Amino acid sequence: MTLGVARLAGKVVLVTGSTGGIGVEIVRRLAEEGASVVVTDVDVEACAKLIAGIEHGERHQILGLDIARESQWQQVVSAVSERFPGLDAMVNNGAIGSLASVVDEDLDRYNRVIEVSQTGTWLGMKHAGALIERTGGGSIVNICSILGTVGGMGNSLAYAAAKGAVRSMTKNAALHWATRGVRVNSIHPGFIETPQLLERYDGTERHRAMVANTPMGRLGRAEEVAAAVAFLAGDDSTFITGTELYVDGGWTCA
Ligand SMILES: NC(=O)c1ccc[n+]([C@@H]2O[C@H](COP(=O)([O-])OP(=O)(O)OC[C@H]3O[C@@H](n4cnc5c(N)ncnc54)[C@H](O)[C@@H]3O)[C@@H](O)[C@H]2O)c1
Repeated sequence: MTLGVARLAGKVVLVTGSTGGIGVEIVRRLAEEGASVVVTDVDVEACAKLIAGIEHGERHQILGLDIARESQWQQVVSAVSERFPGLDAMVNNGAIGSLASVVDEDLDRYNRVIEVSQTGTWLGMKHAGALIERTGGGSIVNICSILGTVGGMGNSLAYAAAKGAVRSMTKNAALHWATRGVRVNSIHPGFIETPQLLERYDGTERHRAMVANTPMGRLGRAEEVAAAVAFLAGDDSTFITGTELYVDGGWTCA
């Protein structure tokens, strides 16, 4: 898609989990809108491949980052400060899930989902949010889920726990920074048809249930999540904080 506007020109925006199904579209959209993107993931080679396919690749920065490790957040924040005058926005997108239900979940896997998807998001707000504040203000976008709010299909208990926490931490952090220029919002995708999701579920009963239970009668596209991110990351949303934006084809209104 070619956009007629560059709403993020001159802005530096950090993205976690950049090489997953939704992450790549977030990076592409932010870059297309003119941002310098700090492209992070545990998989640095995949970050490099992603940037190789984007125009003006030299404008962006690639950094390895396991969001669950605080020391890596500290290194990333200092690398960003060395390369750029500051940080204007960040997107806490990286996460892992588990399909297990309340009775089937296993303690080690539960703890790992919380460590990455919940604690990793808090660490991102703590470290990158502080840099955004030092820069003079900006935006934090937390990628949550409909499962942060509703029960979905009655499975993915650990993931729902983590995303419920992301939803409430978003509002808590929004109040902390309300008068300090840092806005914090969450985006709640419904089921998004990423290559990874299709590889796992295409043609299965679960895939049919995801479509059938979405009022709009289709799964979402990663680009549709990325468009919401671009809106919340930039200056079109300067009086919006602590809110939750659903990109779910109507799932949560049924
Ligand atoms: N795909 C969907 O249907 C859907 C629906 C609702 C919410 N979401 C949310 O959207 C976001 C992106 O999802 P996706 O579908 O692209 O998932 P994905 O599994 O394709 O991508 C996740 C990314 O996170 C990275 N990651 C995993 N562990 C990490 C860690 N410890 N540190 C840093 N990065 C790590 C992975 O390398 C990958 O790039 C997630 O927060 C997810 O919970 C997705």
